[in-house]
Amino acid sequence: MTDKEQPALWKKHSSQIDPAIMAFMIGEDIRLDAELLPYDIQASRAHVQALQRIDILDESECSALCAALDECLEQFRAGSFSLDGRFEDGHSAIEFFLTEKLGDTGKKVHTGRSRNDQVLVATRLWLKDQLQHLHSLCAAMAGILLERAEQDNLPMPGYTHLQRAVVSSSGHWCAGFAEAMLDNLSLVAAAYDLINSNPLGTAAGYGINLPLDREYTTSRLGFARLQLNPMYAQNSRGKLELHALHCLHQVLLDIRRLAWDFSLFCSSEYNFIQLPERYTTGSSIMPNKRNPDFIELLRGTPAVCQGAITEINGLLALPSGYQRDLQLSKAPLLRAFRHGLAALRLLPDLLRGFVWQAPAMLAAIEPSMLATDRAIELVNQGVPFRQAYQQVAEQLQRLSEQDIEQAAIHSIAERVSPGASGHLRLDLLHARLGQLTETASLDESNSG
Ligand code: ARG
Repeated sequence: MTDKEQPALWKKHSSQIDPAIMAFMIGEDIRLDAELLPYDIQASRAHVQALQRIDILDESECSALCAALDECLEQFRAGSFSLDGRFEDGHSAIEFFLTEKLGDTGKKVHTGRSRNDQVLVATRLWLKDQLQHLHSLCAAMAGILLERAEQDNLPMPGYTHLQRAVVSSSGHWCAGFAEAMLDNLSLVAAAYDLINSNPLGTAAGYGINLPLDREYTTSRLGFARLQLNPMYAQNSRGKLELHALHCLHQVLLDIRRLAWDFSLFCSSEYNFIQLPERYTTGSSIMPNKRNPDFIELLRGTPAVCQGAITEINGLLALPSGYQRDLQLSKAPLLRAFRHGLAALRLLPDLLRGFVWQAPAMLAAIEPSMLATDRAIELVNQGVPFRQAYQQVAEQLQRLSEQDIEQAAIHSIAERVSPGASGHLRLDLLHARLGQLTETASLDESNSG
């Protein structure tokens, strides 16, 4: 077989399909299916074993197919498995491999399945791994941010409208992003729960005239439950991908805000933090500069995910059942997760490594930022709030007479409303992190 020839797995007529048409239909599938291939092989193994349970395969055929699938995986890992333009996709490359190796036994592997449920199950298993990574990264970020909030609670300005407003603290900032990551952990677990259902055995979208043991493949592949209706299995392609992308997007939106803060905080105008040197780059023209390029690329990351969501949303205007348009959902999905997780993987190190610049943070606190505190002190002496507000407003000048460092420290300590700088309730955040990460794997924490 030459590079140009299609392997004749299900060719119905002798004339070759026009290569340009074929190339268009294959699109990026070969490259994308390479990422899904290990999951496809895993699901193929479960399918073969399920076929033996209903006597479509005998024991020796089943073990020959399983051994060949193992070999396929080994070759894939070693980089010697042929997945190239001769194949329409990864699914046909696997079937071709088995047929070449085992002859008639190989030709039995596709009994009772379609590439339609094959791609669903491989994507589903892949997505579960991606969400598990996302979950671990959110947990790691939450843990580090809580640690940083515990380590120090330095005075810094709290802003509204980007204007200096009241005294706040570094612990307040860290605990805020930690809590965001806790919410994200819940989101990811919920998406994981939806995705944790087995579409294998739904064939082309209408089931099959065989009593397939779908419960067996469900537990064998580690799914929490069956995705029961074959048509819905097809209709959920893209829908579940969007759920996963929405979770990733939410995490990246929090990180975008964090990156925005960092890019302000590390500028000379603020100078509130120092980034680890490895996260900065030099300028090609200005010898004096260190630029926060990494932070800016981080800030841009949600755009890639948003693009993927838009692209898949656009594809899903479809009637029920499998339509080839759905193939186009793979590229944006894989790209967004690859890009998003690559960014997030660097966050734990960054969050551990940045250094607060206490003197500059303090220097940015103006005495007038104590005005709200003073008004509340008057309230405690029995003055109605609006009156206290006016009294302080008239005497703002007087605030500048105090020792700002002592006043700022006092201000933080007195901010005792739950969650605020003087009462961060890190214990509650820790407890929630503990609950959300009770089990190392999301599989154990999901009830199905
Ligand atoms: N590459 C295809 C996809 O991602 C696999 C399924 C092909 N099914 C079909 N009926 N042509 O959708």
